[in-house]
Amino acid sequence: MKFALSFLALSSPAAFAFQSVSSPLNRPQSSSSSLFGSPDEFCVGILGDLHIDPRVMEDYETGREQWTNILTEAKQNVGDDNVSLVSLGDLGESKSVRPDETSELFAGTTECHELAADFLSGFGVPYDVVGGNHDLEGIDEFDTDEANLELFLRAHKKEGPQFMRQIAEKTLLVGMTSTIFREAKYTSHEVTIDQEQIDWFENVVKTHPADEGWKIFVFTHAPPNGSGLRVLQENHVVNGCCWLNHSNEIQCRKFIELVREHRCIKAWFSGHFHLGQDYQDSITFPTIDPKDGPYPNRGSCVFAQTSVMRSGTSRDGRQQSRLLRGNKDGFEICTVDHQQGGTIRLDATITYRDNTNEVGVYAHSDIEQMDDKYFKVYSPSAGDSLHPPDENYIPYEDELIMDKAVTMETKAWWKMACGRVLGMLNGNMIEYDKSTLAPLGLVVGADELVGKRVAIIDSGLEEMCAVDEMDPMCEDGEEEIGMEGAERGEAEVREQAVILMDDSDGSIVVVQPNEDGSYWRKIVRNKMIRMKEVRREKAAKRLAESIKKEDADIVSSWGPYTTTKGTAKNTGVSGLTAPASK
Ligand SMILES: *[C@@H]1O[C@H](CO)[C@@H](O)[C@H](O)[C@H]1NC(C)=O
Ligand SMILES: *[C@@H]1O[C@H](CO)[C@@H](O)[C@H](O)[C@H]1NC(C)=O
Ligand SMILES: *[C@@H]1O[C@H](CO)[C@@H](O)[C@H](O)[C@H]1NC(C)=O
Repeated sequence: MKFALSFLALSSPAAFAFQSVSSPLNRPQSSSSSLFGSPDEFCVGILGDLHIDPRVMEDYETGREQWTNILTEAKQNVGDDNVSLVSLGDLGESKSVRPDETSELFAGTTECHELAADFLSGFGVPYDVVGGNHDLEGIDEFDTDEANLELFLRAHKKEGPQFMRQIAEKTLLVGMTSTIFREAKYTSHEVTIDQEQIDWFENVVKTHPADEGWKIFVFTHAPPNGSGLRVLQENHVVNGCCWLNHSNEIQCRKFIELVREHRCIKAWFSGHFHLGQDYQDSITFPTIDPKDGPYPNRGSCVFAQTSVMRSGTSRDGRQQSRLLRGNKDGFEICTVDHQQGGTIRLDATITYRDNTNEVGVYAHSDIEQMDDKYFKVYSPSAGDSLHPPDENYIPYEDELIMDKAVTMETKAWWKMACGRVLGMLNGNMIEYDKSTLAPLGLVVGADELVGKRVAIIDSGLEEMCAVDEMDPMCEDGEEEIGMEGAERGEAEVREQAVILMDDSDGSIVVVQPNEDGSYWRKIVRNKMIRMKEVRREKAAKRLAESIKKEDADIVSSWGPYTTTKGTAKNTGVSGLTAPASK
């Protein structure tokens, strides 16, 4: 068999890793022998975020040429019908590509998708595409997400936002598209999969069960929470657009729950982060050797991040795509390196043990480049029955009062009594998901946190309960905030307060949770709303100039939460629209 996946004895992973760094497709003998493979063999090219800019097409032309060589050879090896291409979305540059003429963003426009469709049609194999967070960004051209989506589907000749392709015997490629941009509740760059697609997907995985031999490879623009992939703290985490349906806790969990339940899901590919594929945590395995760390509980699924093709769009200088090839025994995930003439490097080999279990082996360790430090993102590790939590975990009984002020280097994490997990990294306070410890979002930025000590204290439920509803101190019928509700609550959860203490001036800040109990701030909101706000600020600026005040300082104010009082009298934000309070 010319397209042999050289699976070695599972007991010698190290030997394996050394042996298979050169890929079967690169071996000279792989191209000869028979014309067609066995029915279970397939090969898929996977492209990360393209962000096509018509002004700079060279990298795309080069990348496609490299790919057509690879795919042509693959077709000879496994048969024309068993090779295809998947684009993970974000097809256009999210800027004006004719800045002298127009400020219209290119991404999401008719011109963008027609150019992308033209590009993707030229690989000599059929392509499928899932939409990312920039693919409905044609906000000047289309009034609604529906109209923009319709154009997207038409341009790429898609029947619906999702896709399913049988690529080999009992082997499916399945993808889902982000369909919400204008209507997003928070940041428009959250990748959301609508209910219809989720229902469809759930049905697909239910009707193609692992015990009948089905193998499903999934493609979405962003990965699900719980995937364990390396993420960008500064960017996607802080903005709440890391994971599929990131901003809604229950919805966000759905994807990894489906993965855990349905063992037919063998791998899940995503892009979105523009990070390279040289790090081991650009691929995560469903099971790991207990001596290497806690059990990840990722069903039977391998998660893989995909890099980008064009220089300048990469966050770490890499220009890479993924190659997936497999047969009934397992599959390989490889890198196609566009900076090295499209050479193929084996990254990981996954061998099926039976229908619901497999073993993954990395082919190489992290391949570091000079400036990679920046991308090393620390994530807490909770440990399991065999492993203790990592050394930055702070256990405490009643109170936690840090004795040193936070610096950019401080690493720490702890659990709140309610189960939520907070921690510190790069001078920021971050909320982590309580079950997976995946970062959820920014609670306090380094601008506010560095130089202060953090304290977690009981908020004094007992004393508060003793206080009468109408405190004599509260005049004008202002009600003291009662704790009766908490007292009556079925589950006795200790109330706590997160405090920032500034030893230089003795000031104290209370970091209040959001009303749903979470702490991370959904700061970045819907782009449509923000654009309108910017327009109003510009109008204010013009007004200021018309009354001859050059360099006018414009600040905006927002409602509604500025007080703990029951009767509001002031709306000023101290230090911004009102004098600073002391
Ligand atoms: C390709 O895939 C199809 C199923 O999609 C399968 O029937 C066929 O045998 C496979 N192999 C070849 C060489 O065509
Ligand atoms: C992520 O998944 C975990 C475990 O499945 C879940 O408990 C958690 O709430 C999820 N996070 C978000 C943001 O929904
Ligand atoms: C994701 O969000 C969309 C939009 O709010 C919603 O329709 C969909 O049901 C959510 N997905 C899941 C898995 O709940």
